[in-house]
Amino acid sequence: MGAIETNGLIKDFGELRAVDGVTFEVQEGEIFGFLGPNGAGKTTTVRMITGVLKPDSGRAYIDGINVVQDPIPAKERIGIAPEEANAYIDLTARGNMQLAGELYGVPKKERRRKSDTLLEEFGLGDRADSKVKGFSKGMKQRLILAMALINDPPILFLDEPTAGLDVASQQLIKERIGELNGEGKTIFLTTHNISEADKLCDRVAIINKGQIATIDSPEKLKATIQSTQSVLISFASNDFSQAKLKELKEGLQVVQEIEKEGDKYRLYGSDPGEIVEKVVDFARKENLNIVSLNTSGPSLEEVFTHLTAG
Ligand SMILES: Nc1ncnc2c1ncn2[C@@H]1O[C@H](COP(=O)(O)OP(=O)(O)OP(=O)(O)O)[C@@H](O)[C@H]1O
Ligand SMILES: [Mg+2]
Repeated sequence: MGAIETNGLIKDFGELRAVDGVTFEVQEGEIFGFLGPNGAGKTTTVRMITGVLKPDSGRAYIDGINVVQDPIPAKERIGIAPEEANAYIDLTARGNMQLAGELYGVPKKERRRKSDTLLEEFGLGDRADSKVKGFSKGMKQRLILAMALINDPPILFLDEPTAGLDVASQQLIKERIGELNGEGKTIFLTTHNISEADKLCDRVAIINKGQIATIDSPEKLKATIQSTQSVLISFASNDFSQAKLKELKEGLQVVQEIEKEGDKYRLYGSDPGEIVEKVVDFARKENLNIVSLNTSGPSLEEVFTHLTAG
């Protein structure tokens, strides 16, 4: 049994079925991305798995423990950085950390030490005694993550941890996510940042209108959109004319389409390896100098758009 498992989760809000039969399994040690457009049902799913919201139907398990039947042992294993800031603005950063520690049953003696270590790690050491009221969005987000780690949980739920942050703050949080995973933590990462999911996640589930559209590794998902594979090539100036372009296309049966992109040409086809071979042969025969040659597959964004369109 995986670290996180759901089976047929359903949640209705009045007439709206926000989550419509969601089933998946996350293995221990994975970074699992939960990717979907606004309103897809990501946060509602997380709230059901973490025991905040009761499902109308279906089950959720943490390390094999049924979250509804045994909420206490299930919740001991998880840390949650929710979508909406859960820090008290009238308390200091340290005060919030202590409170989170108390809530998660961290022994009093350890609370202070752990709080200080985590605040330091998240770059908030020098603001530990400032009230959260005066914190920027990035600072609040870092504090929320630190709070989620106070009981050193093996499984972390992060709901849009980098949304609305500047590049430096995003980078800091992404690095910490990678490190935490390196320490063996399982990470459930909700995001609509596709490149973040692509870079960080072992596997990604794409959710749309309350249903899982697909689950796979980013690379395998990209491979499902074969037709948009392409090769980008540029030749030394003046070497290449429109006439040559026509000749090239006729000569290369493997190329479906050629598009000019600035000083480069993009050759589309289903087999980029073969395109590269043929185009190199062609250049040699015609005495053309190749300046650059790159193959590029479809992006995760294309897969996402494809699956969530309409
Ligand atoms: N407490 C609630 N009462 C009524 N409707 C709700 C409630 N919570 C969520 N919804 C609705 O359920 C749907 C899914 O919402 P949810 O917050 O799970 O989406 P999401 O995928 O997290 O979106 P986002 O990317 O904007 O955070 C939305 O249509 C939302 O309006
Ligand atoms: Mg959400």
